[in-house]
Amino acid sequence: MTAPLIEIDKVHKSFGGVHAVEDVSLQLHPGEVLAVLGHNGAGKSTLMKMLAGAYPIDSGEVRVAGDVAKIASPADSQALGIETIYQTLALADNLDAVSNLFLGRELLTRFGLLDDDRMEQAARETFQRLNPNFKNIRVPVRSLSGGQRQVVAISRALYFKARVLIMDEPCAALGPEETRMVHELVRRLKADGVGIFLITHDMPDVFGLSDRLAVMKNGKLVGCYRTADVTEDEVLAMIIGGKPVARVAQWRAG
Ligand SMILES: Nc1ncnc2c1ncn2[C@@H]1O[C@H](COP(=O)(O)OP(=O)(O)OP(=O)(O)O)[C@@H](O)[C@H]1O
Ligand SMILES: [Mg+2]
Repeated sequence: MTAPLIEIDKVHKSFGGVHAVEDVSLQLHPGEVLAVLGHNGAGKSTLMKMLAGAYPIDSGEVRVAGDVAKIASPADSQALGIETIYQTLALADNLDAVSNLFLGRELLTRFGLLDDDRMEQAARETFQRLNPNFKNIRVPVRSLSGGQRQVVAISRALYFKARVLIMDEPCAALGPEETRMVHELVRRLKADGVGIFLITHDMPDVFGLSDRLAVMKNGKLVGCYRTADVTEDEVLAMIIGGKPVARVAQWRAG
């Protein structure tokens, strides 16, 4: 087993009286897809937003490649090689695909001006790798399809060479063809050694893509298993009942 890319160690987060995340520990390894499951409000997005630098953690610790990470902002998270695709697919709707790829990390000429030519060229190459059919990269992304928007969001991970990718329900709003494309992209990033947190409610996503799965309920971790060790019925029972599967051993670090 390779050293973990990320170790989440006894992390807590409350909003007022709501314990959104309570004492959660998880690890993610290179080239691994870890599905994060649980009902609405289980704490999945909150956990991931702490890794993304959107929320500070209340207590506990996150280690990246063995070192304690201070993630106080999205820029800190990105500097650690963590890219996030939010549930809302946060793109700047009025900007085109090229501008969205480089948003906040624009390429500059040696005179300090925006290097539009170099950005367009790099964007074209990156989008091409993800989906050769995606050509309308100079129109506002608001007019793109869900699948094309996913390409733009995922292209950030590819271009900026993410080590860790957080995908919050990447296929929720997609049709079957676009879902297939996202699955293909996940497999490709995984083959490149990227570690992926995949938040999803979709069992075909879980069983088609993940190596391990973690179930959360009411902010707590119910259990963490190798996907191949559990059945769909057992996973659904864990999500609903909030109890670990007795039949199989949980995945343990070390
Ligand atoms: N910014 C916030 N302010 C106050 N409460 C919040 C905030 N964000 C999340 N919560 C609360 O924390 C809990 C966990 O929410 P979270 O969004 O992490 O759930 P989730 O598992 O991602 O659910 P879903 O599947 O619906 O996306 C919920 O009770 C939610 O209301
Ligand atoms: Mg969520």
